[in-house]
Amino acid sequence: MGTGLLDAFAQEHKLLLESELRTLVNKLDAPPIIKESMIYSLEAGGKRIRPLLLFATLDAFGIDPREGLLAASAIEMIHTYSLIHDDLPSMDNDDLRRGKPTNHKVFGDAVAILAGDALLTYSFEVMGNISPEFASDATKLKLVIELARAAGTEGMVGGQVADMEGEGKSLSLEELEYIHIHKTGKLLRFSVLAGAILAGASHYQLENLSSFAHHLGLAFQIQDDILDLVGNQQLIGKPVGSDTTNQKSTYPQLLSLEGAIAVLHKQINLSKEYLGMTGLNTNLLMEITDLVASRDH
Ligand code: IPE
Ligand code: IPE
Ligand code: MG
Ligand code: MG
Ligand code: MG
Repeated sequence: MGTGLLDAFAQEHKLLLESELRTLVNKLDAPPIIKESMIYSLEAGGKRIRPLLLFATLDAFGIDPREGLLAASAIEMIHTYSLIHDDLPSMDNDDLRRGKPTNHKVFGDAVAILAGDALLTYSFEVMGNISPEFASDATKLKLVIELARAAGTEGMVGGQVADMEGEGKSLSLEELEYIHIHKTGKLLRFSVLAGAILAGASHYQLENLSSFAHHLGLAFQIQDDILDLVGNQQLIGKPVGSDTTNQKSTYPQLLSLEGAIAVLHKQINLSKEYLGMTGLNTNLLMEITDLVASRDH
């Protein structure tokens, strides 16, 4: 188990991130409605697990996590865009997100789609604006390319398409694993890789951190499936039973609740094995990993 350091670390860095996100959007010169809509969905309520993974990875290398503030903001923007679009009537058709009505319920579908587009695009500008003190141009280019790969057709978007195509069908475990690794795992994995790239990690460290985050990402989405079934709507801030309504294949649906929990723990253990091989100071990352297995929201 962890050392209990994570609470204070998370609190401090979430505040920094949330203030950075607000500043970044507020300074845009654009019609107020699009900024309002972007800020509405970015506002506190998210767990900020991806930014925390990036910050904790920098910490593992002994680097001040604040050096990752813009990279973390870029990732949280892409994640938030994916949630806005995921909730649209033509996708999961959900009315509640982060404890509030979904973006399209408040701003209408057109503005919600554009807020997603705006967050997605701005994310790359933000990544490109990391101070040269913290990242060379070559490092920034690598971050931008890896982020595009994680979020794009071979990453999150590909997973979301397979998720949509799988509705109403009975998928194999292999097909479901593809969906989870792509729709959720790729961006989560990138959050760790971004920290490692900023830190100038060795090839060996990158390989182990990448495997760590791969298994963690899969575990994270398995727990998301479990919470869709047995979670508390007040805590998760989104509707319980959305997957059942949309006839999605999920880990509990394919393997039973007990079976899904068993795979979750298997993935968590695998992720910890790889983390243990990095030779880094991984206390915070270990605690985040425990949290992913036990989270109730
Ligand atoms: C929800 O992500 C969507 C998935 C990819 C599983 P989170 O559970 O990280 O949502 P927030 O950011 O805390 O709202
Ligand atoms: C969505 O998975 C993953 C994304 C890329 C947004 P879900 O559809 O299960 O996420 P939730 O449960 O709505 O947050
Ligand atoms: Mg979905
Ligand atoms: Mg959804
Ligand atoms: Mg879900």
